[in-house]
Amino acid sequence: MVGTPNPDPVLVVEALRISFPNRDGGRTEAVRGVSFTLGRERLGIVGESGSGKSQTGRAILGLTAPEGLVSAKRLEFRGVDLLHCTPKQRREMRGGRIAMVLQDPKYSLNPVMTIGAQIEETLRAHSKVSGREARARAMAALEAVQIDQPERVYRLYPHEVSGGMGQRAMIAMMLIADPELLIADEPTSALDVTVQLQVLAILDALVVQRGMGLIFISHDLRLVSTFCDRILVMYAGKIVEEVSAGNLAAAQHPYTRGLLNCLPRLGDDRHPLPTLDRQPEWAI
Ligand SMILES: Nc1ncnc2c1ncn2[C@@H]1O[C@H](COP(=O)(O)OP(=O)(O)O)[C@@H](O)[C@H]1O
Ligand SMILES: [Mg+2]
Repeated sequence: MVGTPNPDPVLVVEALRISFPNRDGGRTEAVRGVSFTLGRERLGIVGESGSGKSQTGRAILGLTAPEGLVSAKRLEFRGVDLLHCTPKQRREMRGGRIAMVLQDPKYSLNPVMTIGAQIEETLRAHSKVSGREARARAMAALEAVQIDQPERVYRLYPHEVSGGMGQRAMIAMMLIADPELLIADEPTSALDVTVQLQVLAILDALVVQRGMGLIFISHDLRLVSTFCDRILVMYAGKIVEEVSAGNLAAAQHPYTRGLLNCLPRLGDDRHPLPTLDRQPEWAI
């Protein structure tokens, strides 16, 4: 997949830049010229904290903080120029054709609304359906994310469910409008490892069945490589390397190689594990 031109891209990002005001009265660039094209595939974005992964995702969703300045040569979703959409058009697209799942469902779910009501509300915001149909589709969405007793969970409030259940409910809510693109920003980082894998398996099945494009953002290179087709490695606001997930061993950039080298391997008795030795020239 690496390097092949995509004839029918879901998303085109070209020379994306995002800056924020700094203390000196100037601006600091958090994203410094990011370009990639996404088809119906699972694209991973990895990099350490602060490398600009979330800001890249937020710019695509139109959720950059007001003080942030976004510019790009192209930022297109299915041929729609996202940079020149009205706020209303962006809102309609968000949760509709473009969905997102964030790290902690606690901050994304409404605490005073039952899970069922929230899923229905998302559906009704994007399509005209009767109350009966909304309920049936909400229930089906809860089943699709493998929630065992959907009738019961439907009536619960977010604080009454576990983190894993909350994240499944969040995914159900995001998928009910049948999005073409899903942006998942560290969607499982707040969960323990077993639950993490369950949630990822559900996400993976849904992406494959529905033919969605997926951008999966994570600091965890190993997780991303088991789950994505292609990986962009970000460092200090830039993409330093693109690798296909099946061929991580071919990674060239010293930062990527450093990340790979720091992963513990089974049967390996390297003590202590090597730590990443950052080089100033990576950030140029
Ligand atoms: N509202 C803001 N004001 C100033 N700087 C910001 C703001 N939001 C994000 N940043 C900066 O943008 C950079 C990239 O952040 P982010 O995309 O969240 O990183 P990541 O998701 O890779 O951890 C960080 O250095 C962060 O400090
Ligand atoms: Mg982030």
